[in-house]
Amino acid sequence: MKKLIVFVIALGVGALVCAWLLARKGARTRIQRHLWQPFYNRASGLYDLLDSLTLGWLPRLRRPALDALPAPPARVLEVGIGSGRLHVQLAEHYDAAGLDLAPGMVDYTRRRLAKRGLVSDLRQGSVTAIPWPDATFDAVVSTFASSAFPDAQAAVSEMARVLKPGGKVIIVDAGDALDGNRIAWLLARAWEAIGDYMRDERPYMQAAGLVDITRRDYGPWNCVHITVGAKPGRL
Ligand SMILES: C[S@@+](CC[C@H](N)C(=O)[O-])C[C@H]1O[C@@H](n2cnc3c(N)ncnc32)[C@H](O)[C@@H]1O
Repeated sequence: MKKLIVFVIALGVGALVCAWLLARKGARTRIQRHLWQPFYNRASGLYDLLDSLTLGWLPRLRRPALDALPAPPARVLEVGIGSGRLHVQLAEHYDAAGLDLAPGMVDYTRRRLAKRGLVSDLRQGSVTAIPWPDATFDAVVSTFASSAFPDAQAAVSEMARVLKPGGKVIIVDAGDALDGNRIAWLLARAWEAIGDYMRDERPYMQAAGLVDITRRDYGPWNCVHITVGAKPGRL
């Protein structure tokens, strides 16, 4: 028991030191650019396999994003589609579009959709310059991708720009729990140590002019949250 306590304390201190080092000198941005982006681009199949190994756990954590969408038919953009697991569900019910920085993920998702006879307007590009005109979508959704975006404000503002008045931005990601859960805190520091940004998206949504902003924590130790904001106006 004593050894376990020492191990947990050492892990916490180690994660804190790594997070502090990473917070300096833009190291996280470099990790995203030089480690994670090449991984997403070249190992989309491996990313997808890791998803399968969670035995339905990740799909369950993505589920609230689907539940927050407007009823079909609607035009929905997913940002950071990854290997396309959520995107298949979107394309089954909505007029779907998808964006990812990694060309490998875009190709992987395109093949996944084609196998099921589904269509979506898939494009390669960055959330900080979304390649669609203003007021195109009824909803913009993103799961477990915003923690990879170095510039959260630019990302959320772009999501808001492509929304129609009355449309919603829906973001699901990991981070600190609002109830202060200590395991969630430790996990958040560990994710920071591997280059992710742990955030509360509400202030970014507010600064982007979104209204009716809500956040709900869920999942193990409340370490995942869904944040929803609406563009003023009516669909
Ligand atoms: C951890 S994966 C999540 C994928 C998927 N949404 C999921 O729920 O599994 C993060 C994805 O975001 C993409 N991504 C990272 N930075 C991005 C950016 N600036 N613009 C668009 N996509 C980005 C990555 O290429 C990767 O496919």
